[in-house]
Amino acid sequence: MLSRLYSLARPALFTIAPETAHGLTLSALKSGLLPKCRTVSDPALEVTLWDRRFPNPVGLAAGFDKNAEALGPLFSLGFGHVEAGTVTPRAQEGNPKPRIFRCPSAEAVINRMGFPNVGATVFKANLERALGQKPRPNGVIGINIGMNKNQKDPEKDYCALIRALGPMADYLAVNVSSPNTPGLRRLQGRERLMPLLQAIFEERRKSCGTMPPPLLVKLAPDLDEEQQHDIASVVLEAGVDGLILTNTSLDRPEGLPDRFASQAGGLSGAPIRDMSLRVLRNIYAMTSGKIPMIGVGGISTGEDAYARIRAGASLVQLYTSFVYRGPFTARLICEELLACLKRDGFSNVREAIGADHR
Ligand SMILES: Cc1cc2nc3c(=O)[nH]c(=O)nc-3n(C[C@H](O)[C@H](O)[C@H](O)COP(=O)(O)O)c2cc1C
Repeated sequence: MLSRLYSLARPALFTIAPETAHGLTLSALKSGLLPKCRTVSDPALEVTLWDRRFPNPVGLAAGFDKNAEALGPLFSLGFGHVEAGTVTPRAQEGNPKPRIFRCPSAEAVINRMGFPNVGATVFKANLERALGQKPRPNGVIGINIGMNKNQKDPEKDYCALIRALGPMADYLAVNVSSPNTPGLRRLQGRERLMPLLQAIFEERRKSCGTMPPPLLVKLAPDLDEEQQHDIASVVLEAGVDGLILTNTSLDRPEGLPDRFASQAGGLSGAPIRDMSLRVLRNIYAMTSGKIPMIGVGGISTGEDAYARIRAGASLVQLYTSFVYRGPFTARLICEELLACLKRDGFSNVREAIGADHR
């Protein structure tokens, strides 16, 4: 019923340019215009990780609420966690528009946003407002941090953000995988990643007191097996608390219309589902399941979420299916996921994590 309602409204919404539609959706959320939905509350969906209680495993991926403006309303749509950001220390405009492209026939998006955001000071004020709400939104708030476009010394930006925002985060996601900031993805290589992580851990120790937020690293799907092995050994050695797999892809799988595929930027949605799943499955095996993982990339249904959890994800996130399936996607996925668990005899999500590897 809910998805039918949205599929009726979608053609009208898709006549509007993607970034304009996104801005209107955020405004509608902030002003309470979008209907609240009954969120699925079931102990079978609860996950406790890093001493945080996630009411369900379905989160909103980074990039939707870049400036932490609509956290309360987003939780009202049924997300168990929301990852705000990517935030950079200083405000920046991002790349010239247009910079988001839809492909409804493939349920895909390409974006080359380049981290437009309000910067750490305004982000912090927005976050304080959200955290000050009574009751506090029922869900976990992650903060995704990145570097400014012209920063030559990435450590400076990541450390500045940990100082400014770390104490307020339920978790921190270190974004080294967006394809639209020159040089960012090179930070995933062993020689760059290890010193960066050491600096970040040291900053967290200095700035975040006795209850430091867990530190997660968000990776690209375009990593070959050798790179995956390298990263697996670095994150184990560095003691990273979690991984987010994956960001958007520079790949253009066959079958995408030329006009769409020729756009520069990161591809998301259904065409990256298999590659994101594969990378997650591999790295889970390479790390012997020792590092909790958030699976993201092309997740649109309860079956998709379930497959990611069986492959090793403790939590999942989505962005593009929110565009194609609508505002009730989190709730729908939770209901479908419950049915998958029941069908296969699992009494809760926790039991299903990594089941394919046993
Ligand atoms: C328009 C758009 C903007 C995004 N911005 C960010 C971002 O700022 N930081 C980030 O880590 N990921 C960003 N992402 C990537 C998503 O968080 C997610 O990793 C990716 O889209 C794959 O998930 P999906 O297939 O469910 O969309 C963005 C994605 C889209 C479509």
